[in-house]
Amino acid sequence: MPFVMNYAFFVYLLSLISFSLARTFTVENNCSYTVWPAIYTGSSGSTPDQATGWEAQPYTSVSFSVPDDWASGRIWGRTACDFSNSSTGQTCLSGSCSGGLECTAPGDTPATLAEWTLSGGSADYYDVSLVDGFNVPLAITNNVGCSVASCPVDLDAICPTALIGPTNTSGAVLGCESACDANLSGDASNSSNCCTGSYGTAATCTSSGVEYYSFFKGNCPDAYAYAYDESSGTALWTCDASLNANYTLTFCPPTDISNSTASASATGTSGAAGATTAAASPSAAQLAPAACSLKPKGSAEQPTYTSTFRNAVRRMLHAL
Ligand SMILES: *[C@@H]1O[C@H](CO)[C@@H](O)[C@H](O)[C@H]1NC(C)=O
Ligand SMILES: *[C@@H]1O[C@H](CO)[C@@H](O)[C@H](O)[C@H]1NC(C)=O
Ligand SMILES: *[C@@H]1O[C@H](CO)[C@@H](O)[C@H](O)[C@H]1NC(C)=O
Ligand SMILES: *[C@@H]1O[C@H](CO)[C@@H](O)[C@H](O)[C@H]1NC(C)=O
Ligand SMILES: *[C@@H]1O[C@H](CO)[C@@H](O)[C@H](O)[C@H]1NC(C)=O
Ligand SMILES: *[C@@H]1O[C@H](CO)[C@@H](O)[C@H](O)[C@H]1NC(C)=O
Ligand SMILES: *[C@@H]1O[C@H](CO)[C@@H](O)[C@H](O)[C@H]1NC(C)=O
Repeated sequence: MPFVMNYAFFVYLLSLISFSLARTFTVENNCSYTVWPAIYTGSSGSTPDQATGWEAQPYTSVSFSVPDDWASGRIWGRTACDFSNSSTGQTCLSGSCSGGLECTAPGDTPATLAEWTLSGGSADYYDVSLVDGFNVPLAITNNVGCSVASCPVDLDAICPTALIGPTNTSGAVLGCESACDANLSGDASNSSNCCTGSYGTAATCTSSGVEYYSFFKGNCPDAYAYAYDESSGTALWTCDASLNANYTLTFCPPTDISNSTASASATGTSGAAGATTAAASPSAAQLAPAACSLKPKGSAEQPTYTSTFRNAVRRMLHAL
């Protein structure tokens, strides 16, 4: 019966499609210390098939499935956590979130962020962001030859005094704040460090106006060092969505990891061309600026969700 056959074939096709709708993400902890990874999905769409927080002992990894329309997704690491007192809001010395082990909100600054939006038209967008500061070195690699996004250098160890974030009882620095979060300008609502107020566009918030930009970008050239860093060409990365890349996030990767470790194949493309177009686009400049989450040091209060990445993707899509 033709109808039955067609229906069966349709179901078969559907099963093939749903196979290709998932990516495999691997999160590995190559740090000598325990990291508690956390996942937050900033969009209302689909979410990874993984808890939003877990304990990662040194030199262990987990793999899970991520829908290929995962948007405004971020993964970060928390350090020095203690979940034994459920009434305590701040459970980790860096990267803490509400919800305890399993996060229900973005984490506290400072934290190095790995960000993805896989629904960006024909491309995956991803980056390592220092816009909310730094706590743990990390890198995003993939298995299809696209660029490596990274901040593999331990910025805690060399953090400028003015940016020092949480410390543990031995005095070790566990996080390094952005100039925005460190409140260096004294007015988060009108600050070139935060790209807010009169500095709220790509045209008015250039990297030269961001204090300590060269500290972050110089040490980690393949990371996002301030809200409008797409114009550097080495902040927001893209990978052809049809390649169905699987991604690996490594905490404490080798320090020589960089985009140049990606294969020389032409399959992967950097975000440089698109980003330049986006930054130059007048319509892009009219979009809302990326927010900086300002939080007093040591406070358990949750910062507002920083929409840096989402806005960058919106700017890019607008320009495409
Ligand atoms: C991604 O990983 C899955 C599961 O390991 C595998 O089936 C798939 O072929 C991988 N994709 C690519 C592009 O290698
Ligand atoms: C992380 O450590 C594992 C086990 O030691 C090793 O196999 C892997 O290559 C390391 N990953 C990176 C990116 O260095
Ligand atoms: C748990 O945390 C709360 C809030 O910080 C504190 O008042 C309480 O003493 C803590 N309990 C224990 C057993 O540490
Ligand atoms: C503070 O952090 C350092 C570096 O991670 C670590 O070696 C030390 O044991 C920590 N001290 C305490 C009291 O946790
Ligand atoms: C930022 O600094 C200004 C000026 O010193 C101060 O008035 C303000 O309270 C600070 N904001 C925060 C959130 O610490
Ligand atoms: C922001 O500050 C600058 C000078 O620092 C000032 O010229 C400008 O008017 C301020 N903008 C707003 C919106 O307050
Ligand atoms: C890749 O990294 C190298 C060295 O860090 C840098 O010089 C180069 O511009 C980067 N390439 C791209 C396409 O961003």
